Amino acid sequence: MPKKTASVGLLDSFEKIPVRIFPDPSEGSRFVARQIATLIRQKQARNQNCVLGLATGSTPKSLYAELVRMHREEKLSFRNVITFNLDEYYPIDIDALQSYNRFMRVNLFDHVDIKPKNIHIPDGSVSKQDIKSHCAQYEKMIADAGGIDLQVLGIGNNGHIGFNEPGSSPNSKTRLITLDNSTRLANSYEFPNISQVPRLALTMGIGTILKAKKILLMAWGALKAPVVRQAVEEEVTAGVPASFLQEHDNVTFILDEEAAAELTRNKSPWLTGECEWIPKMVRKAVVNMALQLGKPVLSLTNTDYNECGLSDLLVEKGDAYEINLEVYYMLRDTITGWPGGKPGVVIPKHPERSEPYPKRVLVLSPHPDDDIISMGGTFQRLHDQGHDVHVGYQTSGNIAVTDEFVTRFLDFAVGFEEIAGIDTSRSGKILTDARRFLSRKRSNQVDTPTIRAIKALIRRCEARAACHYVGIPDDNIHFLNLPFYETGTIEKKPMGEKDIRLTMELLNRVRPHQLYCAGDLADPHGTHKICLDIALEALNRLKKKEEWVNDCWLWLYKGAWQEWHMEEIEMAVPMSPDQVLKKRYGIFIHQSQKDMVPFQGSDSREFWQRAEERNAHTANQYAQLGLTHYAAMEAFVRLHY
Ligand code: F6R
Repeated sequence: MPKKTASVGLLDSFEKIPVRIFPDPSEGSRFVARQIATLIRQKQARNQNCVLGLATGSTPKSLYAELVRMHREEKLSFRNVITFNLDEYYPIDIDALQSYNRFMRVNLFDHVDIKPKNIHIPDGSVSKQDIKSHCAQYEKMIADAGGIDLQVLGIGNNGHIGFNEPGSSPNSKTRLITLDNSTRLANSYEFPNISQVPRLALTMGIGTILKAKKILLMAWGALKAPVVRQAVEEEVTAGVPASFLQEHDNVTFILDEEAAAELTRNKSPWLTGECEWIPKMVRKAVVNMALQLGKPVLSLTNTDYNECGLSDLLVEKGDAYEINLEVYYMLRDTITGWPGGKPGVVIPKHPERSEPYPKRVLVLSPHPDDDIISMGGTFQRLHDQGHDVHVGYQTSGNIAVTDEFVTRFLDFAVGFEEIAGIDTSRSGKILTDARRFLSRKRSNQVDTPTIRAIKALIRRCEARAACHYVGIPDDNIHFLNLPFYETGTIEKKPMGEKDIRLTMELLNRVRPHQLYCAGDLADPHGTHKICLDIALEALNRLKKKEEWVNDCWLWLYKGAWQEWHMEEIEMAVPMSPDQVLKKRYGIFIHQSQKDMVPFQGSDSREFWQRAEERNAHTANQYAQLGLTHYAAMEAFVRLHY
């Protein structure tokens, strides 16, 4: 039998929904945009309307941007398009910053030639007594338009589609629902804090969605990976509403590589087809098997390999014990207390080079506290081991400071000037203006430039204090204030030339042998991703003309939200209990980020708690695999750019 047919059959036995995987969200979005454009044009040629079901949230933004581009550059017209949006918060004003009505105008409708009468979005401002008739009317309008030709969907971390939360019936229609607490937390990044996220929403039902002739569900990023696997590979259950899509006969999941990472074809590729047993793959298979069975690597038996579907590997490599040893050594060689390389000794498999010593090290930190939160222990070691450590704070981080903090500091500034006998007329006026502004500030109103500047200053002072705590001298602390971040809102600008230029200048000034960047692509506001893109663009441009770049190793740490998988880690830096405490106190220096942070995302733990739990977890996993049990470990992956 030809190999391809055989592997497709095996894949089908795991995946109950067709899946297409793209290298990144922009390629996936371009694919969906082309599908939509083709349908619109086919319908135009036949003088028919094209009825689209549309979603909101972070996922479809790049799709809408591509459709707008096609409208501008490729003459894609929306004159025959009728749209029905999936959902809307309730209650909410149509013009509120977070309303999905506004979202659709800003991201799509205001930029294309759709007829306003053809736009339909549930209305979050109808009165309670009118909700039922509003929902019934919505269903009728969809039917009157001839049903939805193509429905675009996103997926919630809890498996919701539209706002059909777990427990929704497959026959449900458009209705008012109560948002899951997890959804309110996940979406709280759009609101100043969780208490302002509406508790209710209007949503098309699952039955309404399933009636669409064709469905494309998009999912990007590692946070979506577990629920994507559940929806695609597990049984249909109301606990994961997206799993009802298995019952539709024309649905495709459009994923980027990260959202597809938990699918069996990626997690355990040997189960869905033949695979090449390169060392990385062997490590992945054995580490996952050991973690799953709760056994140390060196205790895995031939029977374990056979029962976990790894008989091919046994055949290729021989005995389980030989494979176990190979993987054990690979894991052992990732652990080092010398993240900058151990000077004066030759250790061929050490994650870093011994020479040169000392190294120039540059830690790029997207927000002013990511350095200490994500790699505080390593940061300290690099400094203590004599390297010339620099930190580049990429953005000001000003939106994450509360208004109360600003007034507290302004109060202090004025009081200080009084004590010092300095004329307070100027600062006093700023304080009065700020107080007045903040007392009248509408929820989600953008701060004045002065207030934003003060918020940025507060974070700069904290970052500087944390650097001093580690021992970094002032000359090695750099604030880039990248302009893409400076919108005063959660929505950031795309990376621009100035961002790249500022980063290139810093890189060229430090000429690092080692560069650390946040490789955290699950940051809910996307800031980390943009910061990494900027750093990579800067490095790639410099590479063409600067020799030092060829000698610069790039290590990625994960930001506050996640950790690398055990199978991926290439350098693990252990920490003693005392070093864990020292790191905790370093994180505490970022006082504006303690206790209550605006726009915190879906994890209610404080940053130091996340960091400690995560670092302890990594150490526990190493121990579970049979290696030395440390109190905590920080993990890194090397990126070859
Ligand atoms: C939005 C919607 C939701 C989102 C889902 C994912 O109209 O119906 O189902 O698609 O919550 O949201 P993001 O894309 O922000 O992760």
